Amino acid sequence: MSLAIETNQLTKTYKTRAGQVSVVKNLDLQVERGEIFGFLGPNGAGKTTTIKILLGIIYGTSGWAKVLGEEAGDINVHKKISYLPEKPYYYEHMTGMEIMQFYASLFGIKDKAQCERLLQRVNLGMDMNRPISQYSKGMQQRVGLAQSLLNDPELLFLDEPTGGLDPIAHIEIRDLILKFREEGRTVFISSHELSDVERICDRVAIINKGELVHQGRLEDLLAGGRIEITASGVTQALADKFRSDDVLVSFKGDRLIVDMPDSDSPNEMLDSIRSEKGSVVSVIPRRKRLEDLFLESVRSDNQAKGRVLNKMSDDHNDPKPSAEEETEVGS
Ligand SMILES: Nc1ncnc2c1ncn2[C@@H]1O[C@H](COP(=O)(O)OP(=O)(O)O)[C@@H](O)[C@H]1O
Ligand SMILES: [Mg+2]
Repeated sequence: MSLAIETNQLTKTYKTRAGQVSVVKNLDLQVERGEIFGFLGPNGAGKTTTIKILLGIIYGTSGWAKVLGEEAGDINVHKKISYLPEKPYYYEHMTGMEIMQFYASLFGIKDKAQCERLLQRVNLGMDMNRPISQYSKGMQQRVGLAQSLLNDPELLFLDEPTGGLDPIAHIEIRDLILKFREEGRTVFISSHELSDVERICDRVAIINKGELVHQGRLEDLLAGGRIEITASGVTQALADKFRSDDVLVSFKGDRLIVDMPDSDSPNEMLDSIRSEKGSVVSVIPRRKRLEDLFLESVRSDNQAKGRVLNKMSDDHNDPKPSAEEETEVGS
């Protein structure tokens, strides 16, 4: 079966007063069916633009994008996907139920009970007849999720679904999204809420200034954590035996601190500490956080781009004469 989403060298260029600007550049994405895919990047990275291309709202300038095996924007695919925009706009005087019925009518769904079931599913059963003006942000976002389920989609695009919500609302939305996956749906979430992504996504892509910086399984991207062991009553001689290129050993007062990769098992070290009459105070795994990966990759990408830009402006302002001028000077 085809991938849920696939893009190849996808590029979107806008003509602006400052000239041509590529806001999505040579993007290669692969989203598997049935996974929750996190599409991450700082503000302005090109997330919404990419989603709009995948939905067929706008066209890419070059490269291609496929959704559920068809070209992005294909009319047959529209029936199988849904979209929750970054800032959904609702008429405030309408009730949750009226909004659902309005969107249901767009899909030709006349079944009022279906709207009711979906509102109950997002815990708005009690509030469905209140106007949206009385809904909290989290409740409005839940109406959005109910609405995005109306056509029983195979693939959902959620653009910043937890942006600006309080912690309880975050949890409610996260739990609902996890249920979508249990039902076999694919969920494509754009977000800069890294803790949400870390909790629910199977795979992620990080983009910066329109370009892909990382893509892969969250587990693999966050591999390379460390374990910190603290022990007391350990001799310097034993501590020296533990030391290696990748194992850092130090003493804080009379306490030994060992910092080792989590790919190694700490058992042997713990056994020898105990057999030498030392005692283990703590063993703390320090997982790499998505936040670290995100900041590292965006910063180093910005630095690399900064270097290229500096180099370009250096080249431009190069006081060295051109080959032609050199000849003239030499002649
Ligand atoms: N119609 C447009 N014309 C010119 N630039 C645009 C247009 N739409 C978006 N952009 C620019 O594209 C960049 C990416 O925007 P967007 O995809 O909304 O980013 P994100 O969703 O990651 O915050 C931004 O710099 C934005 O200003
Ligand atoms: Mg956006």
